[in-house]
Amino acid sequence: MGNGRKLGKTALQRRKTLERTIKNEEAADLPRVRPFFREIQRERLPAGSTRPARAPPHAISKRLAARQARAYLSGMTEPRTQRADSSETADFGFRTVAADEKRHLVRGVFDSVASRYDVMNDLMSGGLHRLWKRELAAMLRPSAGRTLLDVAGGTGDVAFLWRRRGGGPAVVCDVNPGMVAHGRDRGIDRGLLEGIDWVCGDAERLPLPDRSVDAVTIAFGLRNVTDKPAALAEMRRVLRPGGRFLCLEFGAVSVPFLGELYDRYSFAVLPRIGEMVTGDGDAYRYLVESIRRFPPQPELAAMMTDAGFGRVNWRDLTGGIVAIHSGWRI
Ligand SMILES: C[S@@+](CC[C@H](N)C(=O)[O-])C[C@H]1O[C@@H](n2cnc3c(N)ncnc32)[C@H](O)[C@@H]1O
Repeated sequence: MGNGRKLGKTALQRRKTLERTIKNEEAADLPRVRPFFREIQRERLPAGSTRPARAPPHAISKRLAARQARAYLSGMTEPRTQRADSSETADFGFRTVAADEKRHLVRGVFDSVASRYDVMNDLMSGGLHRLWKRELAAMLRPSAGRTLLDVAGGTGDVAFLWRRRGGGPAVVCDVNPGMVAHGRDRGIDRGLLEGIDWVCGDAERLPLPDRSVDAVTIAFGLRNVTDKPAALAEMRRVLRPGGRFLCLEFGAVSVPFLGELYDRYSFAVLPRIGEMVTGDGDAYRYLVESIRRFPPQPELAAMMTDAGFGRVNWRDLTGGIVAIHSGWRI
């Protein structure tokens, strides 16, 4: 009895220490990019909340909603889905396909663009993806004693930043053998051979034991995953208690004029650039459509909370074009 009470007290103390450490780490999440690109808006959810505390940025203006409706009616864009994929069907861009077919189609997309993916990343984002990834890496606070799993990490960018900033061993896991080979080749080109393991595996069934890594990231990968709740649960499973999960993904733009400009650029310009550079305009049409279908920031935060992450919050970068969601295994 006395022992039981003592154990309970120890667990409580451990939790308090964990939360103190987490708060200190979160306090260091300051924007490090140049002012022009600095986050325009910062949204936070109170701990334990499954819904946004404030109206989501994408729902702020009636004018923007009207503009989006006009764009939708003119066939230029489609509204975001507000639901997670069901187990039988999934969104593949604006199409709804069988879940297994989506897995197959997504692999086809990345097989097709793997070798030119870097060039396209730079062209598509005007180089901004490098700043966004640096922001993600800074939030990880790499140190030699910590380990990282980067899910859907094909290009290796996040793992390279982690290692260069003094992080411990990293595992890059990607479902697509072509992307894994491409990332590993890039690592060799950069002289980053040590400390990175390259693994072919599905985010929905991670080939790692429970509680085995200190940090988990997924950058521009979650929207391609068919069963997102399963992948989120897996990423929490492999985290050690006190470990952080960060998801860098395209978001819902929160600045009206930027939203319109971004839509025009995405639907009219990007697939053409994709066609010119990779010879596969359809693959880039899929990428643009998949961004519009991805759950907006508050929805993703709610999905993370449902998957069991604690202290879930997110930061918008570049007006919400992308967001970094953060959650902890407590
Ligand atoms: C847009 S790329 C991002 C690559 C890298 N994270 C980056 O930011 O440069 C998306 C990656 O997700 C991978 N992917 C798609 N579905 C996946 C899944 N179910 N499990 C693991 N990786 C997946 C693709 O193979 C591709 O390499």
